[in-house]
Amino acid sequence: MIQVGINGYGTIGKRVADAVRAQPDMEVVGVAKTRPNFEASGAVDRGYDLYAAIEERKPLFAEAGIELAGDVEELIDASDIIVDACPSGIGADNAELYREYDTPALLQGGEDAEVVDSSFNARANYDTVEGDDLVRVVSCNTTGLSRLIAPLQEEYGIDKVRTTLVRRGGDPAQTGRGPINDIVPNPVTLPSHHGPDVNTIFPDLAIDTLGLKVPATLMHTHSVNVTLESQPDAGEVRDLLADQRRTFVIPDWVGIDGAGALKELAQDAGRPRADIWENCIWGESVSMEGNDLYLFQAIHQESDVVPENIDAIRAVLGTESQETSMELTDEAMDLDESLIPN
Ligand SMILES: NC(=O)c1ccc[n+]([C@@H]2O[C@H](COP(=O)([O-])OP(=O)(O)OC[C@H]3O[C@@H](n4cnc5c(N)ncnc54)[C@H](OP(=O)(O)O)[C@@H]3O)[C@@H](O)[C@H]2O)c1
Repeated sequence: MIQVGINGYGTIGKRVADAVRAQPDMEVVGVAKTRPNFEASGAVDRGYDLYAAIEERKPLFAEAGIELAGDVEELIDASDIIVDACPSGIGADNAELYREYDTPALLQGGEDAEVVDSSFNARANYDTVEGDDLVRVVSCNTTGLSRLIAPLQEEYGIDKVRTTLVRRGGDPAQTGRGPINDIVPNPVTLPSHHGPDVNTIFPDLAIDTLGLKVPATLMHTHSVNVTLESQPDAGEVRDLLADQRRTFVIPDWVGIDGAGALKELAQDAGRPRADIWENCIWGESVSMEGNDLYLFQAIHQESDVVPENIDAIRAVLGTESQETSMELTDEAMDLDESLIPN
């Protein structure tokens, strides 16, 4: 069994912990937090051993009546691999600690690409990270774009990608990012950081990205144009995308008109935390004009990177092939269950 430690138990960390626990070949050693709050007591309630990320704050846990299993150093030492899901920038600060204990670590998309040995997306470059010490699971948006680009590139060849990312202003619990009422080009200059980030997965791809932020918390939405090297018809492209793992091509008849309806669908389907791990591509939007493909997709920022973290664990440790890992991950998380009841 692969022993996995999770340092940083927030939006991403708690989801990764549950996904690790569901796998047949992995165990959660424990999770680390800096302070006692509802997520700390939630971790204990779920049976995860809780470790203190900052030694001086240990008395705060005792005061709150939350039992600790030890310090984060002990968690790192006892783990075959660490998933670092700390806030942006802290993962880079922690890198030295992981090196000290000779424990490989996965950082998240908020970290700079320069900090790590490699960047990872399961569909696009699974086989390139084995044996690396520090691997970055790319951000929610880059994950969503990589899943889309990989099959298009393999099947049709890509001349250029142009994407406008309409990004949620904050996650539902990020009260500090609101309340707001605005529509902000972010950044106002081109390209947004997403294009160069996609190039960490597809180094030779021509891609331009523009970013906006809007006062929404539910999901991101991408308006995508891909100039292909051939001219498939739209139906063929739709079928190709529908056949991929971790894509959900929304059928016309289901009446899903936006992120709100998608989240409602996920709740109805009984998904944990109403998570949507797949790219949600509106089937009706998939259109071809000459060589140009157009489509809209929605990305659930809190959860699409979770299965990618699970695959990255096996990819770094070299325990399973890409196909086996993705199948194991999806089966264990019930990701292969359709969001639409048959
Ligand atoms: N949320 C998203 O939409 C999203 C999507 C994809 C990727 N990411 C990336 O994933 C990473 C984590 O993001 P997130 O949204 O999960 O952040 P988050 O919700 O703020 O969770 C991070 C957690 O780390 C804990 N923490 C802070 N300092 C720590 C330290 N020194 N050691 C251990 N734990 C510490 C915090 O908990 P306490 O201080 O309470 O212990 C916090 O709950 C970032 O790189 C982010 O860019 C986020």
